[in-house]
Amino acid sequence: MLKIIHMTVNGKETELAVDERESLLDTLRNRLGLTSVKKGCEVGECGACTVLVNGEAIDSCIYLSMWADGKSVMTVEGLKGPDGELSPIQRAFIEEAAVQCGFCTPGLIMTAVEIVGTGKKYSREELKKLIAGHLCRCTGYENILNAMERIVEETYKVCGEKA
Ligand code: FES
Ligand code: FES
Repeated sequence: MLKIIHMTVNGKETELAVDERESLLDTLRNRLGLTSVKKGCEVGECGACTVLVNGEAIDSCIYLSMWADGKSVMTVEGLKGPDGELSPIQRAFIEEAAVQCGFCTPGLIMTAVEIVGTGKKYSREELKKLIAGHLCRCTGYENILNAMERIVEETYKVCGEKA
């Protein structure tokens, strides 16, 4: 059965008729053309499909689109600046060579956005646990952790820890 939903996607109000069984992954990727949202395992185990819903990182393959009704959704496409420039998190991934094939990268970046949003200065060990839901077949995770550590450190320096 179809259901009309309203959600804000990367800052844009969006109205869609979705099947009650449709995943947010399919809606974002196939219907809204947001191809940063990757389809990997489709069972919530690889993290490739991670997006933010109301600021919280979720696996969009196991999240129904109708649950996003009235909510705000963000994907990597929503991170770019007004002139198309990359966000500091994306730059950190590139500069720390944390990207190889890139399949896991958008999901990891959205988790990084959630982590940075907390304003907490996580240790490397804590960051390892926070990215445990993401599988990367290429990098061995060290460069990903370097990028994460760098962006957490830079944000902490600018903003200080949130109360
Ligand atoms: S595709 Fe969603 S967790 Fe793997
Ligand atoms: S860079 Fe290839 S899977 Fe992570």
